[in-house]
Amino acid sequence: MVDEVLEHLLDREDGIYADVTTGTGGHAEAILERIGPNGRLICLDQDPVALEIARGRLGNEDARVRFHRGNYAKLDGVLAAEGISGFDGILADIGLNSYTLARPEAGMSYQQDVPLDMAVDPDLPFSAAEYLLRVDEAALVDTFQEFGDLRRARLYARRIVERRRAEPIRTTGDLVRTVRDRDRQVDAGELSRIFQAIRVVVLDEMPRLEGLLDGIGDWLQPGGRFVIISYAGHEEKRLKRWMKGVTSPEGPFEALTRRPIGPTREEVGKNRRARSARLRAVRKRGEG
Ligand SMILES: C[S@@+](CC[C@H](N)C(=O)[O-])C[C@H]1O[C@@H](n2cnc3c(N)ncnc32)[C@H](O)[C@@H]1O
Repeated sequence: MVDEVLEHLLDREDGIYADVTTGTGGHAEAILERIGPNGRLICLDQDPVALEIARGRLGNEDARVRFHRGNYAKLDGVLAAEGISGFDGILADIGLNSYTLARPEAGMSYQQDVPLDMAVDPDLPFSAAEYLLRVDEAALVDTFQEFGDLRRARLYARRIVERRRAEPIRTTGDLVRTVRDRDRQVDAGELSRIFQAIRVVVLDEMPRLEGLLDGIGDWLQPGGRFVIISYAGHEEKRLKRWMKGVTSPEGPFEALTRRPIGPTREEVGKNRRARSARLRAVRKRGEG
């Protein structure tokens, strides 16, 4: 969705932009190609490993770009460190990087048997294994229902609690073996939703999204734009409600997308994970 991002985010060649989910730098690279010699791009990501890749890709010589490792719910510190009062545009492509998913040591994927970590942000207080060791069974059911849309949420939570009485779930393989049926069958879609739901909690995704939505009005200049791409149903629900509130006639933003924009057929063909992407964009009222 690179073209749609550029179209909705950029309106000044010399603007100061932030990509707060830089990942391995795909969107950031496209932004740098578009802005002029006096434009600036602040690249942020919670994951130090992804950010290093972006740094290598975008080059350390380009004086227009700066890197910050951190959480997008806390952009005040980034603004202060850069000595600026607000951005002309902020991009948030929330969710999981394909690179992180493919990196075994992140412990996000059920396809390799590796330590069940998931906490790619070193500031996060617990790993997925630690979470499964102490989460209350009822809370785990809620997590599976709310963030994984899992019909068999109760069953999976029960199996996890029973298993940990005998021994802790330490690896991704332990988790797969714990939730699968006696006949050893396990549906790949269900498994990825179990992993997704646990990841949402371990990465503190919903509180951090709230922090971003709360702060965005303060972090943008008047006329500044906010583009957000989301993938999961629970994020969709939240963003739909947020858009409706903030773009009401008295609200602080005007909508640049009347409906969320989905990927083109060609994009889905290239990357199956892109199929659920939805882009929304707003502009802060006032003259920029
Ligand atoms: C879908 S990827 C972004 C991919 C990127 N747009 C690109 O073109 O390569 C999402 C990224 O957001 C980062 N992320 C997720 N939550 C974050 C948060 N609260 N603060 C900062 N980065 C976050 C993840 O670490 C991941 O690298």
